[in-house]
Amino acid sequence: MTLYIASDHAGFALKEKIKAALKVQKITVEDLGTNNEESVDYPDFAETLSRRVAQKPEQNKGILVCGTGIGMSIAANKVPGVRAAMIYDDFSAKAASEHNDANVACFGGRTQKIGDVKRWIEKWMKTPASLETRHRRRIDKITEIEEKNCC
Ligand code: RB5
Repeated sequence: MTLYIASDHAGFALKEKIKAALKVQKITVEDLGTNNEESVDYPDFAETLSRRVAQKPEQNKGILVCGTGIGMSIAANKVPGVRAAMIYDDFSAKAASEHNDANVACFGGRTQKIGDVKRWIEKWMKTPASLETRHRRRIDKITEIEEKNCC
């Protein structure tokens, strides 16, 4: 598994805090930018990270941070193979993996605090996807939508 992280300018500060927290936990993460708080466009970073995750969508994971997490999740979900979830509490952190097998987690640098985000990332990464259940069927239906509308 390779874990990628990226942000826009509004998510930069939180991205740096997430990286520091992951480092303490000895989790390696590949940073795809941005590298400062100069204004950039979040879809560029969402696309770069999503394409990397989509190379091995069942193994790779990604963390995206913008101002709200909303723009990043909308853009990331345009890349086939990516299931990006906007995580906003403990329950959604667990369900994003268990129910949705989300391979990308999105956060808001202007709306969320590192203490919460750190705990939510841990929950999302440690919770296995529940793929022997009804959730498999639903995820397969998402893939079918993708295939029907692709290219
Ligand atoms: C940037 O100002 C802001 O629009 C962006 O970070 C994000 O919140 C979009 O969803």
